[in-house]
Amino acid sequence: MTAFKTLDDIGNVRGKVVLVRVDLNLPMQDGAVTDDTRVRAAKPTILELADAGAKVLLLAHFGRPKGERVSTQSLSMVVGAAEQVLGREVMFVSEIAGPVVAQVVGILPEGGIALLENTRFWKGEEKNDPDLAKAIAANADIYVNDAFSAAHRAHATTEGLAHLLPSFAGRSMQAELEALGKALDHPEHPVAAVVGGAKVSSKLDVLRHLVGKVDHLIIGGGMANTFLAARGVAVGKSLCEHDLASTAEDILTAADAAGCTVHLPYDVVVAKEFAANPPSLRTCNVHEVAADEMILDIGAAATEALADVLKVCRTLVWNGPLGAFETPPFDTATVALARTAAALTKEGSLVSVAGGGDTVAALSHAGVAQDFTYVSTAGGAFLEWMEGRELPGVAALRH
Ligand code: 3PG
Repeated sequence: MTAFKTLDDIGNVRGKVVLVRVDLNLPMQDGAVTDDTRVRAAKPTILELADAGAKVLLLAHFGRPKGERVSTQSLSMVVGAAEQVLGREVMFVSEIAGPVVAQVVGILPEGGIALLENTRFWKGEEKNDPDLAKAIAANADIYVNDAFSAAHRAHATTEGLAHLLPSFAGRSMQAELEALGKALDHPEHPVAAVVGGAKVSSKLDVLRHLVGKVDHLIIGGGMANTFLAARGVAVGKSLCEHDLASTAEDILTAADAAGCTVHLPYDVVVAKEFAANPPSLRTCNVHEVAADEMILDIGAAATEALADVLKVCRTLVWNGPLGAFETPPFDTATVALARTAAALTKEGSLVSVAGGGDTVAALSHAGVAQDFTYVSTAGGAFLEWMEGRELPGVAALRH
């Protein structure tokens, strides 16, 4: 795998125009940013370049406006949050290419920062149109990609630009690639993977890839039910994709052949209704789930056994909760195992990397997100990486 260049290789940027692709696809409510994590992730790169005297042009998408200008998806709404996090003035520009941007480049001082409009307002962005990429590149000298979480998209500003300008990974991209490399490309063994979440169907490729890579595969969440059912366990009313029984069998066979131990729960927390602390709540052996009950979390005995697995491992990759963690007490197993992983990481015996969708929320809920070795802010990109795919935005940087 070719190495990628980082800001350490960028040289003197004073007076140079640097396009920095960041991910500002931020959660918003009533026009206000509700979580600025991604701005904070991009901050080191933006300030490093600005402080070195570059003219920084930020490129980002927001939502899926499909090639149209949609006022509710203008990045102008993010300027306030960006200024607050960066502690600098950020000029908003309603274009991404052409004479307006050229004019901005002319007036932007060295060290100045401008945020260009939502790249997805232009049809050529998602089509990775070389003409759009050329028009954007025409106003700049250098391209920096700091948006790992958008690197699974082969778009003009995530992929195309890297072929047109000297290209570098930003600090957040670099940290992400280094952490993920340590976790799956060249990890210290034994390696454990926790894969949870509702549906097997959304993570089939993840599971197929992981069985050939890791020593222990811990399956939780609704997807564990599909595997249990495939093994002939009656799972009652549990969330379960019965039509995937043979696919689940194939994954178990492949795991066996690869020497990967698959861990499915042997005791589970069940209830007749899905509600917080329901009266019908009980813990039982997986073989004792009644027809009118559903599995909502892994039981205490299985959770303890999983903690013992982590204790002998050196590396952990985590994606997805073990139970219906948003509703108490079905967060118990996720919280307990996340705390074990965090404690082992703090002790120095485990490298722990987590990411994707609900995972960050689950780890934050357990109060341990900051204790993992690395928590990725990426959703889809993290999953595609777990599937073993080379992300187009990353591949382009390796050229
Ligand atoms: C994300 O929010 O995961 C990224 O910004 C990618 O967004 P997308 O799924 O709309 O491409």
